[in-house]
Amino acid sequence: MKSLASYEDAKGNIKLRQQIVRLMRESRCRSRVEEIIITNGCLESINLALRCIAKSGDTIAVESPTYFGVLQTLETLGMKVLEIPTHPQTGIDPAALDKVVRTRKITGCVLIPTFSNPLGSCMPEKNKKQVYQILSDAKIPIIEDDIYGG
Ligand SMILES: Cc1ncc(COP(=O)(O)O)c(C=O)c1O
Repeated sequence: MKSLASYEDAKGNIKLRQQIVRLMRESRCRSRVEEIIITNGCLESINLALRCIAKSGDTIAVESPTYFGVLQTLETLGMKVLEIPTHPQTGIDPAALDKVVRTRKITGCVLIPTFSNPLGSCMPEKNKKQVYQILSDAKIPIIEDDIYGG
């Protein structure tokens, strides 16, 4: 009854956040309850994550094609988009990404590796590791849209 008459924690319901930490642990991703916030859907979380790592005018690398909502979010934030060729079965092209991070100033990268929308591709584990290595070596943060992951 008390919960009906009071505001929720601004970061979101604590029990839900604890369950998210537990689920993330099952997929070998360590996090703490204080690091989790509940958003109004996936695009709000991408919007917040982008605002944490980049500002208007910065360039963000994305798969091509990518989910149109990601492009709209980047446009709203005044960020530039750099499209990386993406294979319908194996996802973003690691060689093309590698070339881009060596030649262009990229502030971040938004990826949908586990069932791309619109392609439906699922990046093989080997490619995911390769892409992670390229971006972490270049110190470029990855924002993963894992809406269809599990
Ligand atoms: C890959 C992807 N990201 C984000 C969204 C939007 O999610 P939400 O409505 O939770 O913001 C969708 C919706 O179809 C999607 O396919």
